[in-house]
Amino acid sequence: MARVESGDEQKRRAAERAAELVEDGMSVGLGSGTTAELFVRALAPRVAAGLRLRCVATSGRTELLANQLGIPLVDLSAQLDLAVDGADAIERGTLAAIKGRGGALTREKIVAQASGRFVLVGDGSKLVERLSDVSPSMPVPVEALQFGWRMTRLRLAALGDPILRERGGAPFVTDNGNVVIDLYSSPLDRAADLAVSISGIPGVVDHGLFLDIASLALIAEPGGILELRRV
Ligand code: 5RP
Repeated sequence: MARVESGDEQKRRAAERAAELVEDGMSVGLGSGTTAELFVRALAPRVAAGLRLRCVATSGRTELLANQLGIPLVDLSAQLDLAVDGADAIERGTLAAIKGRGGALTREKIVAQASGRFVLVGDGSKLVERLSDVSPSMPVPVEALQFGWRMTRLRLAALGDPILRERGGAPFVTDNGNVVIDLYSSPLDRAADLAVSISGIPGVVDHGLFLDIASLALIAEPGGILELRRV
């Protein structure tokens, strides 16, 4: 009987394929989350063998891992060649994505938009025909300033059901010192309009809708890696 591959194994295969895109001398954005960490791990032996890279980490956790693995980090001060990151949902065709379950969405978006090429990686569970298929069960994470966050949440309530993210009974705080409000909105069939509306609310730092940013998605499936380009 054929062995069933786990989601983690699929993530690893997708991450390793993405690592093949990295060439000597590149500047590379390192995403956050379990799949992005597998990408960082896939780079490590090549860096140890002499691959020269300048990398930018999108979270404290990724920074720690890169440091442990000897991957050289720099501040983001110029355009990057490539960035690789995971996602919570990726829409086939447009490669529009929802990101931010790990709370690193703002730095992830800054790095993604600073990259000549932004590549999403994931296991098969991340691929959806339309983002509206996963709402309302998957929220759009919104990073907001702590100052006045209840007011920000009140304004977000005009767009859906906003829930303050908590960890261990206390508000979850991002690497930037902000809170995350998870916005359940149904249906998510006009993501671009929703993105504009969220961004217009005072106190919002950024949101997890990554629209028109990714040019390639590498999705691991049982038979291989699906390479999807934005259409
Ligand atoms: C963190 C993210 C992650 O990339 C996203 O949540 C996917 O994570 P994972 O690879 O662990 O499934 O956006 O802010």
